[in-house]
Amino acid sequence: MPATLENLLAIDEPIVLGPFGGASSVELTALVSEAGGLGSFGLYGYSAERIHDAITRLRAATDRPFAVNLWLPTGDEVVPADVDLQPFLDALAPLYDEVGVQPPAAPAAFIPAFDAQLDAVLDAAPAVVSFVYGVPSRDVIDRVHRSGAHVIATATTVAEARALDEAGVDAIVASGAEAAGHRVSFLRHAEQSLVGVISLIPQVVDAVRAPVIAAGGIADRRGVAAAFALGAAGVQVGTAFLRTRQSAVPESHRRAIAAATDTDSVLTRAMSGRLARGIPNRAMREIETTGLIAPFPAQNWLTGAFRSAAATQDRGDLVSLWAGQSSALATRDDADEVFAALREGVPR
Ligand SMILES: Cc1cc2nc3c(=O)[nH]c(=O)nc-3n(C[C@H](O)[C@H](O)[C@H](O)COP(=O)(O)O)c2cc1C
Repeated sequence: MPATLENLLAIDEPIVLGPFGGASSVELTALVSEAGGLGSFGLYGYSAERIHDAITRLRAATDRPFAVNLWLPTGDEVVPADVDLQPFLDALAPLYDEVGVQPPAAPAAFIPAFDAQLDAVLDAAPAVVSFVYGVPSRDVIDRVHRSGAHVIATATTVAEARALDEAGVDAIVASGAEAAGHRVSFLRHAEQSLVGVISLIPQVVDAVRAPVIAAGGIADRRGVAAAFALGAAGVQVGTAFLRTRQSAVPESHRRAIAAATDTDSVLTRAMSGRLARGIPNRAMREIETTGLIAPFPAQNWLTGAFRSAAATQDRGDLVSLWAGQSSALATRDDADEVFAALREGVPR
């Protein structure tokens, strides 16, 4: 049998639902896996207990393969003790006030430790574990393989793809600058790693042995066909699925994607301290105006306090409206229909 992504991952269609750190839903992930693709679930910020719970619920919803996604530690998770968060808290005070929450007190840790997250993932033994923000160590890759799972990791440049290939990952997501959410670059600054999909995919395909999954701006059959023409073995889609009723984002986020044009997304560090693509709203603009952006993950945690209240209140002006450059192609509000439209672009 040829080494297709379908054979490798035991799926029927080479279509991956991208993980959404903080915004994945069991329903959407399971729906894509049940349809024959690979549903992914983002575990960013999840404790071991929540990881166990999420994977148990995914298992109950589908017995097809699915992926869970972890952010690798990059050394900036621990904010030095001498960083004074007060100026950042003060700058965000009006936003806390607006949604009726108190400024948060500094926690013991901003995010759960990676090792505890990985242990919980391997205990639950999903079919695929995907990583962003680096090259998983030999030990991590070996442990995932010993658990019976495949390893996927993401590159934003050819050099990153080569590094992942040499490390022995099973498939590489090549994420173009069009993509929604965080730019997961790890060899150079994210601002210096903004390669578009039509340039990135064939260059990565030429540079690596592992199958390449194209991500960024793919939202319908034409994008899928183009990715395969460039040599990709599969596609990973975010925005088009995020727009559907099965996703976990607030209704105002779906409306913002539905209304966005090609030029309506921007790259910002305002919401998390790391570069990410989304639709500008008042929170993003006000934070950028103050110029007071704490380093990741402190900024993500600081804004999280008003973002979660804003999401409950469906306040689209005060959440992170992550979305890619193809938002205007995300026209469907049913994930089964999105999947069917994408499938039409897969070469037969
Ligand atoms: C809300 C949101 C959160 C995301 N979180 C993650 C994440 O935690 N890990 C990851 O690998 N990709 C993450 N992504 C990227 C998507 O999985 C996917 O690769 C990307 O959306 C593809 O580009 P597109 O939106 O143009 O289709 C996120 C995207 C969005 C919109």
